[in-house]
Amino acid sequence: MTERVLSGMQPSADSLHLGNYLGAMVNWVQLQESYDAFFFIPDMHAITVAQDPADLAERVRRTAAQYIACGIDPERSTLFVQSHVPQHAQLAWVMICQTGMGEAGRMTQFKDKAAKSGSEHAGVGLFTYPMLQAADILLYQPHSVPVGEDQKQHVELTRNLAQRFNHRYGETFRVPELAVPASGARIYDLQNPTAKMSKSGESPNGLLNLMDTDKKMAKKIRSAVTDDGSEIRFDRAAKPGISNLLSIHSALSGKAPSELEEEYAGRMYGHLKVELAELVVERLGPVRDRALELLEDPGELDALLARGAQKARSAAEPVLAEVYQKVGFLPAAPG
Ligand code: AMP
Ligand code: TRP
Repeated sequence: MTERVLSGMQPSADSLHLGNYLGAMVNWVQLQESYDAFFFIPDMHAITVAQDPADLAERVRRTAAQYIACGIDPERSTLFVQSHVPQHAQLAWVMICQTGMGEAGRMTQFKDKAAKSGSEHAGVGLFTYPMLQAADILLYQPHSVPVGEDQKQHVELTRNLAQRFNHRYGETFRVPELAVPASGARIYDLQNPTAKMSKSGESPNGLLNLMDTDKKMAKKIRSAVTDDGSEIRFDRAAKPGISNLLSIHSALSGKAPSELEEEYAGRMYGHLKVELAELVVERLGPVRDRALELLEDPGELDALLARGAQKARSAAEPVLAEVYQKVGFLPAAPG
C-alpha cells in the first residue's frame, strides 16, 4: 500500500510567500508523486487569532488556488478545507482530554504567540491549537508529516498523544514519523537576510509574495539588501544577503550554489540580482496567473474543495468511529 503523508499551511494571508513556496510547496508537489498525499487548509487553526470573517473566507479560496497553481493536483492528492471535515473538531476534543496542562504549556509556539498578545489576553484556542493539529494528523494515519522546523514540536506532541491513547485504550493510531522528508530551502527576508522570510517581517519589500505582480517581484529582488564587498560567494555568516539570493537561485534553477559561484565569478552583485529577478518572474509569474485564473471561477474551486472534503471524510470517519467506541461513547442511533 502506498504510504500516506499529510500537511497544511494556514490561510493567514492573501498570498503565500517565496519561503512557503521553496521551503514547503515544492516539496509537497514532489511528494504527491510517490505518496498518497493529503493537503489541507487549516482554517480552524486560523481563528485561534482574530480574523475578519470575509477576509478568512477569501483567503481560504486564495490559498486553495495557490496550492493548485503551485502544482498540487486535486485529482491525485486529497485537497480539502479543515472545517469541511467535522471529524477534526471531534477528535480534537478527545485529544484535548489526553493532554496535560504542563505539556500543553511547554509548546513554544503557544508561548511565543501568547507573549505577543499578552498572556492574559491570549485565547484558549491558542493553547489547544496543538491538540487540534494532532487530530488533523491522527485522523488520516499518515506515515509522515512534512513540516518545517517550527512545527516539529507539534508533531512530537502528536506522537506522544498517539502512543498514550494506544496505551490507554488499545492500539488505534499509527504513530507518525518525525523524520521530515527531504526538506526544502530556508529562505530569508530580502531586506533583513538574517531573519527568516515571514509574513510578519518588518519591511514589506523583504517579503516576496507569490501573488505579487511581475514588476513587484522583480523590484523586490533587485532591491534586496546585499553585503559589503563585491564577491559573489555562498557564505551564510559573512554574506547573508548574497547567500540568500544564491539559495533562491539554486532552488529555482537546480544549480548548486558552488556552480553559481563559478558562473558569477568576476561579476557584480547587480548581475546576479537582474538575472535572479528574471528567473523569479519566469517561474512564479505563471503560478500567480494560474491562481488568478482559478479564482475567476470560485464555484468550480468550491466544487473541487467539496470533492476533496468528501474524500477526507471517508478516510476520517472510520478512525473517529473507532476512537469513539474505544473511549466508551455509547453508539448513536443511526439517522
Ligand atoms: P507558515 O507560513 O509559517 O505557517 O509556514 C508554512 C510552511 O512554509 C511551513 O512548512 C514552513 O516551514 C514553511 N516556511 C515558512 N517560511 C519559510 C521560510 N522563510 N523558508 C522556508 N520555509 C518556510
Ligand atoms: N500548524 C501548522 C503551521 O502553522 C499548520 C498545520 C495545522 C499543520 N495542522 C497541521 C501542519 C497538521 C501539518 C499537519 O504551519
